[in-house]
Amino acid sequence: MPRQRPLEALVLHYSQTGNTAKLAEAAGQALSDRGWKTRIMSFRSPEETRSLNTPDLLVLGTPTHFWKPPVMAVSRIRALPRFVGSYAFVYTTYGGVFASDSALVLAREAEALGARVLGGASVYCPHNFMTGDGRRLGDVYPEFGLDQPNPEAMADFLGALESVARTLEAGPAGGFDLARLGSSRKMLSFLDSLVPLSVKRDFLPLPRVDAEACKQCRMCLSVCDTGAVRFVREEIVTNAGTCMRCYQCVRACPQGARVTDWAKIEKLLRGVKKLMSPPVTRTAAVDAPTEGSEP
Ligand SMILES: Cc1cc2nc3c(=O)[nH]c(=O)nc-3n(C[C@H](O)[C@H](O)[C@H](O)COP(=O)(O)O)c2cc1C
Repeated sequence: MPRQRPLEALVLHYSQTGNTAKLAEAAGQALSDRGWKTRIMSFRSPEETRSLNTPDLLVLGTPTHFWKPPVMAVSRIRALPRFVGSYAFVYTTYGGVFASDSALVLAREAEALGARVLGGASVYCPHNFMTGDGRRLGDVYPEFGLDQPNPEAMADFLGALESVARTLEAGPAGGFDLARLGSSRKMLSFLDSLVPLSVKRDFLPLPRVDAEACKQCRMCLSVCDTGAVRFVREEIVTNAGTCMRCYQCVRACPQGARVTDWAKIEKLLRGVKKLMSPPVTRTAAVDAPTEGSEP
């Protein structure tokens, strides 16, 4: 029997410098090419996701921050409407340091919303910390993801998504073991789970204000997802306890008045990377019926 209506996909992404958004676009395009009705949205602002229908497939993507999905992304996910009856595909993008169990954590968040996860990916992308001259590390150095995701990684990512799509096109889906989305480096992931976010984050310097250059335009306040940057008694202040060191404020300042020590950050990241195995894109998904078989 031909299907009464096209299958629907909702692609939700949280992205600060475009890597995660770019994969959302590619995922949306791949599903549209298969005849799905597809909607792609950012969920960085709560207003953007107020009225959402329950799709057949929810695609949910975030970056990895400190080996986990960003805390603000998780809190926005928890504020989304429930997706009972939807299936889900989750993905995280990471900058070649370590993605740890980020995709697994996202999968659990999607399941807590009522969706059933059928696959996911950790995609190696350009690292978005900056060099001193305003470019992302990953747009300069091969070891920080220059030219990633490469064509093979992109094919793996879209292949896993299409495996989920084909499964749903064929009818109700079988089971998928979420543990397949966990890191292959179990010992490191275990150690990671023992270290609080505040400890990892405090290795990185707090962005400062160059008072002479600052014109108090407050752009830094508007891009801060956690509300850590505030205007108090005619001064821009940054709360060290809630600042996530994402450095969006440094990027956004038109005067270059938000500053930080990029050289120190780069050195630290290079040190951590030496302890890690070479980064790869990893995917896992349900086994789909072979293309062309009867739905
Ligand atoms: C605050 C912060 C923490 C990060 N932590 C990690 C990390 O733990 N491991 C990693 O490989 N990359 C890390 N990255 C790099 C990003 O995960 C990566 O560049 C991602 O693709 C950025 O996605 P976006 O462009 O959609 O924001 C971090 C980036 C930021 C801003």
